Amino acid sequence: QQAEQRHQIESTISRLFAPEDAGLQGALQAARDAGLPEIQINPIQGKLLQVLATACQARKILEIGSLAGYSGIWLARALPTDGHLITLEINPEHAEVVRASFANAGVGDRTEVRVGAALDLLPTLTTEGPFDLIFIDADKASYPQYLDWAIKLSRAGSIIIADNCVRDGVAFQQTATMDADTIGLVQYNQLTREDPRLTTIVLANDNDYTDGLNIAVVKAH
Ligand code: DHB
Ligand code: MG
Repeated sequence: QQAEQRHQIESTISRLFAPEDAGLQGALQAARDAGLPEIQINPIQGKLLQVLATACQARKILEIGSLAGYSGIWLARALPTDGHLITLEINPEHAEVVRASFANAGVGDRTEVRVGAALDLLPTLTTEGPFDLIFIDADKASYPQYLDWAIKLSRAGSIIIADNCVRDGVAFQQTATMDADTIGLVQYNQLTREDPRLTTIVLANDNDYTDGLNIAVVKAH
C-alpha cells in the first residue's frame, strides 16, 4: 500500500515536472534495441541534474559513466550553446549508441563521448577543467577514487553528484559481508559527509524512494 503510494507520487512528479520528449524517449529505445541494461536514472533525477547545472551556471560538465546517454541528454540541455559536456564510457559499442542518441536529441554539438576506463581518462582531463558539475554513475567500487578526481577537477562552487547512493539503505551501513560495489558506495557516502571541503546531502528519489543521489557542493579546495 505504502509502496504503491510512493510509486504514484514518483510518477506524478515525473509527469508534471519531468516529461520526456522524443529525444529522451529515443535514447531509451536505442538503448533497449542495443541490449543495454535499463538502469538509467529516472526523469526526476534527470530534471534535478538540470536544476543543479542551471544553479551553478554550468558551462563545463563531466560525466563518469554514459550508459545510454539518457542522463547526458538531461545535463547537456542545461548548457548554454557554447557549453560542453564530456562523458566517459568504457564500452566502445555503447559509446556509439550514445553519440547517435545525443545527435538525435539535438545536443551533438555540445557533447563528447570519450572511450576508455574512467581511471585512465580522468588524469588526461586536468587541462580541460575545472568542471562546474560532475556526475558519477559508473562502477560503484571505484566511487571513492572518482570522488578524488572529481574534487581535483572542480572549483569552489562546483557540484559533484553520484547515483545509487541509497540502495535500500545498504549504502549507509558498514557490514562484514559487503561486496566491492557496496564498500565503494558506503565509503563514498562517508567520505563526502566528512570532507571539510564539501557540503553534502543524499536524496532518495528513485525506485519508489529506495535509491537516490548523493549531492555535494565544493566549498573550497
Ligand atoms: C546498477 C548501476 C546503476 O548505475 C544503477 O543506477 C542501477 C543499477 C547496476 O550495476 O546494477
Ligand atoms: Mg546509476
